[in-house]
Amino acid sequence: MARGAVGPGRGFGRGKVILLGEHAVVYGQPALAAGLGIGVTVRAEPADVDSLAIPAWGVAEPITAAVTAIKQALEIAAPFRLEGDARVPSRAGLGSSAALAVATTRALAEAIGRALTDVEIERTADRAERVFHENPSGVDVALATRGGFGLFRRGVGLEPIVAPPLRLAVGLSAEPRSTAAMVAGVRAIADRTPVQRAIAALGELATAGRDALADPAALGPLFDEAHRLLQILEVSTPALDELVVSARAAGALGAKLTGAGGGGAVIAVGNEEEVVAAWHAAGFEAFVTEVGA
Ligand code: MEV
Repeated sequence: MARGAVGPGRGFGRGKVILLGEHAVVYGQPALAAGLGIGVTVRAEPADVDSLAIPAWGVAEPITAAVTAIKQALEIAAPFRLEGDARVPSRAGLGSSAALAVATTRALAEAIGRALTDVEIERTADRAERVFHENPSGVDVALATRGGFGLFRRGVGLEPIVAPPLRLAVGLSAEPRSTAAMVAGVRAIADRTPVQRAIAALGELATAGRDALADPAALGPLFDEAHRLLQILEVSTPALDELVVSARAAGALGAKLTGAGGGGAVIAVGNEEEVVAAWHAAGFEAFVTEVGA
């Protein structure tokens, strides 16, 4: 493509699950996370005016502040029509905003004929994430970009982990949530001693989880303990607690909320089909998935 010319572009960003260490990762603790098989694909077409449409999420806007941040980072002035094919639910703690940011970054970079490294993609998508909350650790964009399993540390990045794909049951609480509000809520109580202890313990669980990835019987109890600690951080809700309790009653080896909390999703390991059936019976949307592939 001639310098300065623009054409169509296409990019993909993965959803993610945080297995252990959400919120604690904002405070420098490690988080154990995995890419989902599903995510968001964005197509970029040169147009007369900027626009963004994501039919699955009901989004149809002239342009969002997050897309503007990406265009500025890539020094793109030309207008684009962006269309997103979203296969990951939005605002469910499954990394939808990071998946969109990474997919948009890749699509626009391709549209201007620029090859970006993974580090450049993460840095650019991070600008968009900052629109959603001012203090992202970077774990969501790292997984949206690279997938697989990894132990993420703020300022260090993602250390990839080789492990077989992990089957999880995912249950959606259907409560509206905001990552920004949840991160701010934890910050407001972060000087309390029990909260500080919980943050340190969540980091230890993430490190322990790395060696338990291939063994659901070892991973399950770590999930249970993490959910208890996240309750101390005040990010669980009655619906998330109900999902966790009913997963355990249905035979899960462990269950916890994933992501920022305040709504969003619960993950459970062990007897995944039975867990999903129990969640469906209780009226929740739920599915079985493989992560880290
Ligand atoms: C959100 O998916 C994960 C949090 O730890 C926030 C962050 O790491 O930026 C809650």
